[in-house]
Amino acid sequence: MERALCLVMGYVFGLFQTGYIYSRSKHMDIRNYGSGNSGSTNVLRVMGKKAGLIVFLGDAGKTIIACLLTRLLFRSQPELLYVYLLYTGFGVILGHNFPFYMGFKGGKGIAASAGLLASTDWRVMLVCLVVFVAAVAITRYVSLGSILVMICFFIGMVFCGWRGDFGIAAAHLTEFYVLAGLISAMGIWRHHANIKRLLSGTENKLGARKE
Ligand code: G3P
Repeated sequence: MERALCLVMGYVFGLFQTGYIYSRSKHMDIRNYGSGNSGSTNVLRVMGKKAGLIVFLGDAGKTIIACLLTRLLFRSQPELLYVYLLYTGFGVILGHNFPFYMGFKGGKGIAASAGLLASTDWRVMLVCLVVFVAAVAITRYVSLGSILVMICFFIGMVFCGWRGDFGIAAAHLTEFYVLAGLISAMGIWRHHANIKRLLSGTENKLGARKE
């Protein structure tokens, strides 16, 4: 019941599709431009830095708020709290990636995952940030940075869970690992078109203008 509540609550928060809403407020649908994605990278590409930042903060912020609510609701169950946080984060990502009112055509959930990182462990978040910045600085491929972040997210969550950092009861650790794996796999899978472009050398580079 608690798990379903976290998923549904997360999904509802995830429906706040900042990129889509922002672009509609400017009389356009971001999905018709650039890569066709509604996330902050495409908004940055098509609408500029300020818009990209707003969208990133909105999309990461909705996960942070949903996770704060989860912490409030389930503070009496510390042995399950981080499992519930991942259910909430996964719900936000599902709502963001598959919003029913946008015909289930949403984003890739990377900013929403960044919000989940900020809501779980700052050290893993820091490592992910360094990996992302380094990957993008070297290659100019945001998608490659995002894919690497999702891999680091999984490794970091499993490492912290295994070390006992999150106080998760042993009986719930496997569930936690599976959830972390699902979130990571979802983020990577949503980049399947980017992966094809990366392999064929046609992926959009940061800073390159694209119609
Ligand atoms: O977070 C999405 C990013 O990794 C790729 O975005 O628009 O280049 O497909 P985009």
